[in-house]
Amino acid sequence: MVTFPTNRPLLALAPMQDVTDWAFWKLIASYGGPDLYFTEYFRVTKGYRLQRSILHSILENPTGRPAIAQIIGNDPEWMVKCAGQLEKYPVAGVDLNLGCPAPVVYRKCAGGGLLREPGRIHHLLGVLREGLRGMFTVKTRIGFSDPAEFDRLLDVFAAHRIDVLTVHGRTVSEKYGPRVHLDRIAQAVTRLPFPIIANGSIDSVAAARHVQEITGAQGLMIGRGAIRNPWIFQQIRDAFAGKPVHHPTGREVLGYVEALYSSSCSNDVPEKSQVHKMKKYMNFLGEGIGGEFLHAIRRVMTKAEFFDVCKQALDHEEPLRLEADGVATGGMGRFPKRR
Ligand SMILES: Cc1cc2nc3c(=O)[nH]c(=O)nc-3n(C[C@H](O)[C@H](O)[C@H](O)COP(=O)(O)O)c2cc1C
Repeated sequence: MVTFPTNRPLLALAPMQDVTDWAFWKLIASYGGPDLYFTEYFRVTKGYRLQRSILHSILENPTGRPAIAQIIGNDPEWMVKCAGQLEKYPVAGVDLNLGCPAPVVYRKCAGGGLLREPGRIHHLLGVLREGLRGMFTVKTRIGFSDPAEFDRLLDVFAAHRIDVLTVHGRTVSEKYGPRVHLDRIAQAVTRLPFPIIANGSIDSVAAARHVQEITGAQGLMIGRGAIRNPWIFQQIRDAFAGKPVHHPTGREVLGYVEALYSSSCSNDVPEKSQVHKMKKYMNFLGEGIGGEFLHAIRRVMTKAEFFDVCKQALDHEEPLRLEADGVATGGMGRFPKRR
C-alpha cells in the first residue's frame, strides 16, 4: 500500500541495477530511508525466470516500507505473466521500466527503446493493466531523442489507468546529461489524473524544494543522490516539517563508507573485487566530496589503500553537503572543497 503524505512529497529510492539490492535498502533505511522502494528490474523475455537475488529483496524486505517490483521487456504475453507472478509476492505494485538508456536494452526495443514506439507502449500498458489486480506504476523518460515526443507519450499514458507515473526528466539520448526538463514533468502533472513522481538529479533539500515547486509533483525519486548522501531522505523530511536539517560530518560520512563496505562486500569475494565494487560507489560519493578525492580513490588497489584515502578526506568533524558539484560547507581534510 502506497500512501502519499499530505504535507510533503512522497520520497522514493530510485531503482538502480547492481546498487539497490537488499543490503543497500537495509543501509539506506538505517539513515531514515525513503517512503517507497523499487527493486532493480526483472528482465522479462520469453521463458524468463525471476532473478533470485531481486526476489530476496522482496521476500526479506528489511526496510519496513513498501516496495514495488520493476519489470523490463516488451513481450506483452510474458510481461503480464511475470507481473501476475510478482503480484503473489509481498509487493506494493508492479512497475514498468520505460527508460533504461543502455544500448544493449534499448536496441532490443525494451526500456527506453520502447519510447520510439508509442503504439507498442499503448498495447503493452493495456495488457498489463488488464492483467494486474493491484497497483500498476510506470517509470518513463520524456522521449527517446527529443523532449517534444513527450506530448504523444502523455496521450498514451492518459489512456490507461496507471496508479503512479515516475517521470525522469531526460530523453534516452540525453542519458545522464546536465539538463533535466522540469517543464515536461510539470506538463505530466497538469495533464494526467494520477500522481506523478519527479526524478532527475535531486541531490539536496534545495533541489527537492525546487523540483517540487516547479513541477507540482506529488513525489520525488532520488537515485545517485542517495548513494552520495543516504541522509537525504531524512533531510528532506525534516526540511518540509520545518525542523533543522542535519548535515553529516566527515567522520559520519566515513562511517557510511565503512558500513557500505561491510554490507556490500562479502568475505568470499576477493579483496580486489570488493575494492573495485567500492570504487563504483565512490564514483557517486566522490562527486560530493571533490575531484582530488575521486582522483586518488581511482588509483587504490587494496582495502588498506582505499580506507587510507577515505580517512584523509573524511576523518574530520566538519559538516559536508554531499551535492554533485563537490560543494562542502566545511574542511575537506587534505582535499580542498571545489566550487
Ligand atoms: C547505476 C544505475 C542503475 C540504474 N538502474 C535502473 C533500473 O534498474 N531501473 C530504472 O528504472 N532506472 C535505473 N536507473 C535510473 C535511475 O532510476 C534514475 O532514473 C536516474 O539515475 C536519475 O535519477 P538520479 O539523478 O536521482 O540518479 C539506474 C541509474 C543508475 C545510475
